[in-house]
This record gives sequence, structure tokens and C-alpha cells, in this order.
Amino acid sequence: MKKRVAVLPGDGIGPEVTEAAVKVLQVIGRRFNHTFDIGFGLIGGAAVDEHNTPFPTETIELCQTSDAVLLGAVGGPKWDQHPTHLRPEKGLLAIRKHFDLYANLRPVMAVPSLLHASPLKEEVAKDVDMLIVRELTGGLYFGEPSRHNEKSALDTLVYTREEIERIVVKSFELARLRRGKVTSVDKENVLESSKLWREVVEEKKKLYPDVEVEHMLVDSAAMQLVTNPSAFDVIVTENMFGDILSDEASVITGSLGVLPSASLGRDGFGLYEPVHGTAPSIAGQGKANPAATILSVAMMLKYSFGMETEAAAIEEAVNTVFEDGFFTADLASPGDRILSTDDWTNKVVYELDLQSVCNSIMFTYN
Ligand SMILES: NC(=O)c1ccc[n+]([C@@H]2O[C@H](COP(=O)([O-])OP(=O)(O)OC[C@H]3O[C@@H](n4cnc5c(N)ncnc54)[C@H](O)[C@@H]3O)[C@@H](O)[C@H]2O)c1
Repeated sequence: MKKRVAVLPGDGIGPEVTEAAVKVLQVIGRRFNHTFDIGFGLIGGAAVDEHNTPFPTETIELCQTSDAVLLGAVGGPKWDQHPTHLRPEKGLLAIRKHFDLYANLRPVMAVPSLLHASPLKEEVAKDVDMLIVRELTGGLYFGEPSRHNEKSALDTLVYTREEIERIVVKSFELARLRRGKVTSVDKENVLESSKLWREVVEEKKKLYPDVEVEHMLVDSAAMQLVTNPSAFDVIVTENMFGDILSDEASVITGSLGVLPSASLGRDGFGLYEPVHGTAPSIAGQGKANPAATILSVAMMLKYSFGMETEAAAIEEAVNTVFEDGFFTADLASPGDRILSTDDWTNKVVYELDLQSVCNSIMFTYN
């Protein structure tokens, strides 16, 4: 298979972690006979410096002619005082809106060898395996009008039936590929938009009789996430609730450095990026954990290219490296040997090569 991937490294540790992920993607290409044609573009602060906009036309064109996008992260103190339209985060909002990337997927899974880094008790965190599906292009963050003056401030929360339908349907489809349970999170006792949300979930669930559906108020969901997180399979929710709950859930695994994400549009096109930011204090020092970006590549293979086996190979290699006790500084315990970004990536590449050798030996033997 031949696929074109736009890589937008962004700022801070973005270039380091995307370089690591591209290396892994190329190894997958060689092993499974795929060609990944990589094109690089600017976004965020790096784009502001070069083109005076966080999402330049050149980058839009690159993404438009690609099958998927891999992004590092954007932002940093250098651009904090820039006017709003020149803030790096505007590049992120713009790319999501431009490509109508309405479904944000964040898997959160406990990794046995990382449980020591979780703030939750081991017995609470050990069976966590959930997927948070957040509506990404509607709701409060995009509502008009929005304004403030000295005396008051106004934000608007609007959801159309169509916007809710497509994300709810996506969550049911995803649940079918997992344990078949959807928790729909809203604030139905207060918000009109949540009443419509619940109505749509009730309507759509009739088309998915094999999927178990429960409704949960957002305040209750916030509590359940730390008291009984393993009860969740797929959580579907609107933009702002999803923003907050997915960050809450992200700490369960112990490090932001291991959490991938996907933002999907129609027809398989998607933007894949780590959940973490640009970590300016460790940028350029070879200290960044590339696992989240490497796992984002696995999500790209699975959700945009339909390459399940290839995605599983990456996930298995990453888990093996952790199980073998190799960590970057963010996850190391006292006494552990700390690996650099490059050295840790090379361990993953080695595991992928080893899988390939083992598979061919088994094939010959059989
Ligand atoms: N999607 C994005 O592009 C995105 C997301 C969040 C924050 N940001 C931006 O990143 C900058 C820093 O934000 P922040 O400090 O709040 O969040 P951050 O995620 O960059 O860092 C939070 C903490 O986690 C550590 N960390 C994060 N990723 C790591 C990795 N891969 N390996 C090792 N350690 C890692 C950092 O060193 C820091 O201690 C800000 O400018 C913010 O706007 C961007």
C-alpha cells in the first residue's frame, strides 16, 4: 500500500518526538511492504516565525494532498505574548476546523510496568482500558457570539442535531470493536444542549442493540474516573466535558508521555498527535518520551489506513520495551537506567525487527 503522510513537528519537543515516530513508521513500511511518502510542514510557533501565521497555506496544501497528518505539539513561552491570532494554539484549532475533524479519540490503558507512576492505587488503575470520544468542532469553544467587557462576559453553547448524531454514531461503531459499552456523559439536569444530546443517544441506540448504553452526568463521571475507572469502555461526550475528562483520565497511566490521540474527519482522514504539549523545559535535550507520538502512528495505521496488524505490532513493541524496564526520564524510578529519546526509539525499532525475525522463523518451522 502507498500512503502520503504530512508531518507537522511544531514546537518544543515536537520535532524530537515526530522524528522518532517517523523512524518507526519507516520500519513498519519496510517490514510490511508499504510505502509511506512523508512531507514536512510548519504549524504553530514555528509557522508564526516563518510565515506570520500559525497555519500557513503551504501547510494546508500539504495536508490536503496527504492521507493523514502526524503532528507534534505547538506553543511555548516565546509566543505567549503574541496577539491572539498569532498564538500557536490557533494553528491547532484552525487545522481541526479546516478538515472538520469532529471526533477526538483518546485511548487510556493501564500498562502493568507503568502502574508505579499512577497517582491511583494499583488495584484501582490496573484494569483500566477506555476510549474517550470527544466532540471536537462544536459546543462552547466555537459558539458565537462570544465577547467580554469589564462588566460581563458571554460564551455561547450550541449543538445541532447533526453534530451530535455523527459523534454518537462514531462512538457506537467504536464500541462494537471493543467491549460493546458506551457511557454518554452530559449535564442533562441543567443544559438544553445536553437534553438534545441525550435524545439523540436514545434514538441512535436503537440501531445498535448489541451496544450497552448508559447515561452519566458529567460531575458523576468525574468522580467515577478516579474511583472506578475500569468500569468504562467507550465514553462519548461534548467538547468541553471531553476536554476536562480526558485530561483527568490521562493521569491514570502515570505520564502524559505515553498517551496518543486521533482526531478524525469523514472518509478516514485524520490528525494524529500525542496528548502532551511542547514541554519547553526539556526541549532539544533528548529527554522527551516519544511513546505517545509513536502510539499515535499506530492509531493512524489503524483508523486511517486499516492496517490493524501493523498497528498491533507497534503497540506490542512499545509494551515490550516498557516491560523490559527501559524508560525515559519522565517514567524512570530511582535506580533505573534512563534512556534518551533516540535510544528508547531504537529499542522499539529493535523489538519490531525481532518480531519480524520471530515471525519468519515460525513461518519456516510451520
Ligand atoms: N496539543 C498541543 O499542541 C498542546 C497541548 C498541551 C499544551 N501545549 C502547549 O505546550 C506548552 C507547555 O504546556 P504544559 O507545560 O502545560 O504541558 P506539557 O504537556 O508540555 O508539559 C507538562 C509536563 O509534562 C512533561 N512532559 C510532557 N510531555 C512529555 C514527554 N513527551 N516526555 C517527557 N515529559 C513530558 C513536561 O516536561 C511537563 O513537566 C504550552 O505552550 C502549551 O500551550 C500544547
